Amino acid sequence: MSEIKIDTINALPEGFSSKINADGAEALATLQSQSGAGNDFLGWLNLPNEYSDADLAEIENATRVFEGCEFVVCIGIGGSYLGAKAVVEALSDSFAAFKPSKAPRILFAGQNISEDYLFELQELLADSRFGIIVISKSGTTTEPAIAFRLLKAQLEANVGKKEAANLIVAITDARRGALRQLATEEGYRTFVIADNVGGRFSVLSPVGLLPIAVAGFDIRALLKGASVMAAKTSADSDENAALTYAKARNALYRSGKKIEILVNYNPKLHFLAEWWKQLYGESEGKEHKGIFPASVDNSTDLHSMGQWIQDGERSIFETVITVEEQRHSLSIPSDEANLDGLNYIASRRIDEVNKMAELGTRIAHIDGGVPNLKISLPKIDEYNLGALLYFFEKGCGISGYMLGVNPFNQPGVEDYKRNMFALLRKPGYEAESEAIAKKL
Ligand code: PA5
Repeated sequence: MSEIKIDTINALPEGFSSKINADGAEALATLQSQSGAGNDFLGWLNLPNEYSDADLAEIENATRVFEGCEFVVCIGIGGSYLGAKAVVEALSDSFAAFKPSKAPRILFAGQNISEDYLFELQELLADSRFGIIVISKSGTTTEPAIAFRLLKAQLEANVGKKEAANLIVAITDARRGALRQLATEEGYRTFVIADNVGGRFSVLSPVGLLPIAVAGFDIRALLKGASVMAAKTSADSDENAALTYAKARNALYRSGKKIEILVNYNPKLHFLAEWWKQLYGESEGKEHKGIFPASVDNSTDLHSMGQWIQDGERSIFETVITVEEQRHSLSIPSDEANLDGLNYIASRRIDEVNKMAELGTRIAHIDGGVPNLKISLPKIDEYNLGALLYFFEKGCGISGYMLGVNPFNQPGVEDYKRNMFALLRKPGYEAESEAIAKKL
């Protein structure tokens, strides 16, 4: 079976050398020995190997709760939604919303507080049978709590309180938080997010696995890919792709490249990049340090961001995800009149043209002073996505330690919440309300 590879050729700055290699080895050792900052949040490291057959059967069986549902709404934000969204989007037909489906359609809510979004969602669900997976590790996050209050009320109004309780699954802390209490009182089926697995590292926990299974995808293959990647990324060797990635991005950062753009040439990977942005942004953006994670979907963004990337400030590098094998095959037809002048590529695969756009861009960007790392993904399937998710998680842990931060906390995320609660006059925030009022 081919595997994920990373290519750093022509990308590394002068001086990518003994210091970076030593720092990478030390960061990897700290991670593997679980002796560094945030080491109480390393449950994700061995997660792919920890499921018994019974654990997986329990998740797979839980999908039956939603049999007969047209929609299942996953409610969550940040790490409690992006992993599932990334995998479901990557594996789904691009036009799944307009084609018949045996599995329920997965919708997301709680990741914003848009009145229009929630109103329109409720309108869509009004005449449909639907279920809810509500996910919050803390069980107290405002955005998902609002969405859940609305949709729970709607579901209860539609099918009655007792039947609604059968159509709701909660994924939360084992003991703490409002969601745990609510789930216990209402008698919902629940799954636990382990204490030692942080939100953005939780895609391979029930947080990601249940929605992915409900969408009809093979969570065992996903975990298998992750497990194989875990074994390949534990030792300090040139074969350790996650270590190579962490070292390369830190070498580039130290040489002044402060922004990393994750590039794809396949729109199915759009939300994979959103997941990656959270993973790296929330893990590394601390103490006024950290690479800013950005992303583009090409060719689309070559016609919007392409100019900036080619010619703008030279503070960026790119990491391109190239998908080696497509799921389908389609060639460019020949046309006798050739009015569009495309006969020179007639009978060539669309993917060959896409790959030439990718290669041409890579060469142009390198020539323009944008270092390019390349990650090769054999194809977009469960096995390879599992491997890719774990690869990025491992790379993130190593990279965060190389940067000198605790990659497993997120102190900055609390600041906006404090202000929002102060502005909304939440009980317990009286002093903050008074202080913020003076700034208005
Ligand atoms: O990575 C994280 O920890 C965060 O992004 C959380 O996942 C996010 O804030 C949602 O938190 P919770 O699951 O507690 O509602």
